[in-house]
Amino acid sequence: MQLPNYKEARKRTKEEIKKEFYSYNLDATNIGLNKTYFVKTYGCQMNEHDTENIKAMLEQLNFVETDDYLKADLIILNTCSIRENAHNKAFGMLGRLKHLKEEKKNLVIGLCGCMAQEEKVVTDIMKKYKYVNFVFGTHNIHRLPYILEEAFKTGKQVIEVYSKEGNITEGMPIKRANKFKAYVNIMYGCDKFCTYCIVPFTRGKQRSRDKDDILKEVNELVKEGYKEVTLLGQNVNAYGKDFDYHYTMENLLEDVAKTDIPRIRFMTSHPWDFTDQMIEVIKKYDNIMPSIHLPVQSGSSKVLKLMGRRYTKEEYITLFDKLRKIPNVTISTDIIVGFPSETEEDFNETLDLVNYCKFDNAYTFIFSPREGTAAAKLEDKTTLKEKEERLYKLNETVNKYFLESNQRLLGKTVDVLVDGPSEKERMLCGYTDTNKLINFTGDDSLIGQIVKVEVTDAKTWSLDGKQK
Ligand code: 5AD
Ligand code: SF4
Repeated sequence: MQLPNYKEARKRTKEEIKKEFYSYNLDATNIGLNKTYFVKTYGCQMNEHDTENIKAMLEQLNFVETDDYLKADLIILNTCSIRENAHNKAFGMLGRLKHLKEEKKNLVIGLCGCMAQEEKVVTDIMKKYKYVNFVFGTHNIHRLPYILEEAFKTGKQVIEVYSKEGNITEGMPIKRANKFKAYVNIMYGCDKFCTYCIVPFTRGKQRSRDKDDILKEVNELVKEGYKEVTLLGQNVNAYGKDFDYHYTMENLLEDVAKTDIPRIRFMTSHPWDFTDQMIEVIKKYDNIMPSIHLPVQSGSSKVLKLMGRRYTKEEYITLFDKLRKIPNVTISTDIIVGFPSETEEDFNETLDLVNYCKFDNAYTFIFSPREGTAAAKLEDKTTLKEKEERLYKLNETVNKYFLESNQRLLGKTVDVLVDGPSEKERMLCGYTDTNKLINFTGDDSLIGQIVKVEVTDAKTWSLDGKQK
């Protein structure tokens, strides 16, 4: 049994990160025979990508996927810790699974992902959720076959969570969720320690993947017919800063742009590490999509300082103005309201910043204290009602600009990577180069292609169009 420990998770050591190759003991191969599995994923793209690895490992063990969890023999919850409601969703599902297990005694339940890295969650599972068969963390996903073997063989609760990140595992099998768009991990972990954020605890220290491994993966995706890659990391702009040689995000972006992949996206960017050279590379290559996610979090320099964000409102705006000069660019952001000590004036500064930046998209949240983080210890006098009012006001403002941003495209022709049939009857849907959802009429044979579409209608959340 190996339990997580926050003191260990917080440590950053100079220990060299090595590369390992995925392999597993063949004894476990048949544990999935005649069994079905269901994986429920919460949280971010990193988790979605981990799920793609988890599914492929399960299929190597001969499990077969089902999309109905009520029918599954094995259910794994890949969880998220970012805010309390992510926790609540996972615990709600665990509650439902308790009843299911009372009816289906042989059901095997596992929990992994960021919540598995939290001390309190794991001790609760040991005490109150004894029907959960196994727990593994974000640093030992590659150990899943062994963990399953132990859980199936012994029938005991297996808990294996490493507090500290391990080596980088290459060569993990993958069952990609999409045939045309792929996530490519370029780095793991984060060393920024923004005071509200749990991620540096749950995902460990920053570790960049070798550029050769990344480029090999992208080239293989091109050969398989993929049209888009999203380079993934908690803070992609810091890519390479942990190498003992000079190779950074702008070098990687340029090398990926020189492959034959038609579309490149990357996320998430921290303003601190966004260099002028990166902006030049984005401008230079047509296959780097002009769509940038640049979380601001707050428009008050006082709050930004308390958040440990390392930039002021003015510095953010200077970077933002440079990015706006990229032709056709769209810029999206994340904003937190109700951070401890945020006053009405601070909040109004956030509104001012939004009115200045006119973001093309924004994800807005109420601050959620995460145990173990510095901000969770700050005094917080603002009532939930006040926070909700701020969120409402903020959403009204950001939504206005989403609509305006979409309306600017009316009558224009945009490039769309066609995802599949839309929820609307007999329509297709896809994303523009600027990452806007568009529904349009067209033939199913277009799925997976990049086509020209004329924008005929603009709404707050999506566009309508017709194929040119
Ligand atoms: N409370 C609320 N929002 C948070 N985020 C991260 N941590 C918290 C928290 N404790 C938001 C940030 C981040 C996004 C992924 O989630 O805006 O950019
Ligand atoms: Fe949630 Fe962050 Fe973990 Fe992603 S990295 S699953 S957003 S806590």
